Amino acid sequence: RTSRFTLDPAFAVGAVDPRLFGSFVEHLGRCVYDGIHEPGHPAADEAGLRTDVLALIRELGVTAIRYPGGNFVSGYKWEDSVGPAEDRPRRLDLAWRSTETNRFGLSEYIAFLKKIGPQAEPMMAVNLGTRGVAEALELQEYANHPAGTELSERRISHGDKNPFGIKMWCLGNEMDGPWQTGHKTAEEYGRLAAETARAMRQIDPSVELVACGSSGQSMDTFAEWEATVLAETYDLVDYISLHAYYEEHDGDRDSFLASAVDMESFIDNVVATCDHVGARLKSKKRINLSFDEWNVWYMSRTESEVSALDWPEAPRLLEDNYSLTDAIVFGSLLIALLRHADRVTVACLAQLVNVIAPIMTEPGGPAWKQTTFFPFAQAAKYGRGQVLDVRVDSPTYETAKYGKTDLLHATAVRAEDGTVTVFAVNRSQTEALPLEVALNGLDLTQVAEHSVLADADPEARNTLAEPERIAPHAAGGTELEDGILRATLEPLSWNVIRLA
Ligand code: AHR
Repeated sequence: RTSRFTLDPAFAVGAVDPRLFGSFVEHLGRCVYDGIHEPGHPAADEAGLRTDVLALIRELGVTAIRYPGGNFVSGYKWEDSVGPAEDRPRRLDLAWRSTETNRFGLSEYIAFLKKIGPQAEPMMAVNLGTRGVAEALELQEYANHPAGTELSERRISHGDKNPFGIKMWCLGNEMDGPWQTGHKTAEEYGRLAAETARAMRQIDPSVELVACGSSGQSMDTFAEWEATVLAETYDLVDYISLHAYYEEHDGDRDSFLASAVDMESFIDNVVATCDHVGARLKSKKRINLSFDEWNVWYMSRTESEVSALDWPEAPRLLEDNYSLTDAIVFGSLLIALLRHADRVTVACLAQLVNVIAPIMTEPGGPAWKQTTFFPFAQAAKYGRGQVLDVRVDSPTYETAKYGKTDLLHATAVRAEDGTVTVFAVNRSQTEALPLEVALNGLDLTQVAEHSVLADADPEARNTLAEPERIAPHAAGGTELEDGILRATLEPLSWNVIRLA
């Protein structure tokens, strides 16, 4: 049967914050080294940045880029990563059992963002695992204070006359996770985050601060963690973080395709927890959500990789090669984020290059797009404006994990010029899904584009040998007549329908 929904500009969820299309660069595997930074590569610029990768990053359309971790940040000594590169120490990176050379550091990160373009914004994490308030303040002063103090003058002496102007700061990373170096209880972390935030605001009251939420909603401490941390930090921070990764378990593809059901419930539960704490505190302030790690990640396959390492430099780690199916789930996760744009105002695709990434590189060789590149690039380009409320009436299917689930997952975004883009996933592995959208109060007369990502082979991937095996194609038969959009969504497909 046909799936349906109605769009009406009178019913909007909220405006999309450009930071929803953020990403993440961690010192992990080959994300930095041999990923964005490879001096000696034919396409490297004078700073060793790969210009072919920079071009793909621009095409991807990412905005805020979180750095330098991730689990890495919980052992990070920021001062190792500044000054003349040849003088920087080599350190053990406990998180990934690797050797960190510090050849790429804070100044290189800021220069990298500048080369991407004005849309790229820093989102810097401080180490609250092995370090605390003092080191966070020192980093902030080194990075942001204009001049005239030892730390700001040190930055200037390192060649960075202008302060970095870092607005957004993450107060640690996944501090609820027992795997985290310096892992803490919610009470311990809540106090530390509050005191770090208070002190950072003494330097600059306008910083935007992200407190660590849970590493996933399946954590035993989930929700209680958020409530405890926010009780300490509510007036001092702007965001609470969420992290979620999805993979197919035991061949249960139907559940995997419904992963966004979990993501949406995670968001709803964190919003409820934030607002509960706000109500308890009789506060008018609203805490927003920073979904600063999300992706498909075959974590179960990579867990053993790390323990087998003997402190190599930039090993091949977490280099998932994404299938068409993965890209459909990925697109559905993007839809979930957009559907909650009123509260999820920052999100970071983890990660950017080589490590569970939309962009892959070969040392000395090419860079190419994974299947997940396409939904992200299209959402970042056309998902700008007001998200319209989409309530689908869809045929359903049974999933072991989430019970009865809609086959259609969709959202729609209205741009400033009045054009509307519908993003839709058909979760059916076998059946095409007819779609009808009633357009109320929208002055739209034509289908400008219906782009679809689908393939006869759900396992098809882009690889070094065949880098362009998967790309979106134009769908036929999509029509807009008398205020009704009619389309057919191919089985297992990500669809972008632009209406003008
Ligand atoms: O993105 C990979 C890792 O996933 C990050 O380092 C960590 O924060 C999360 O567990």
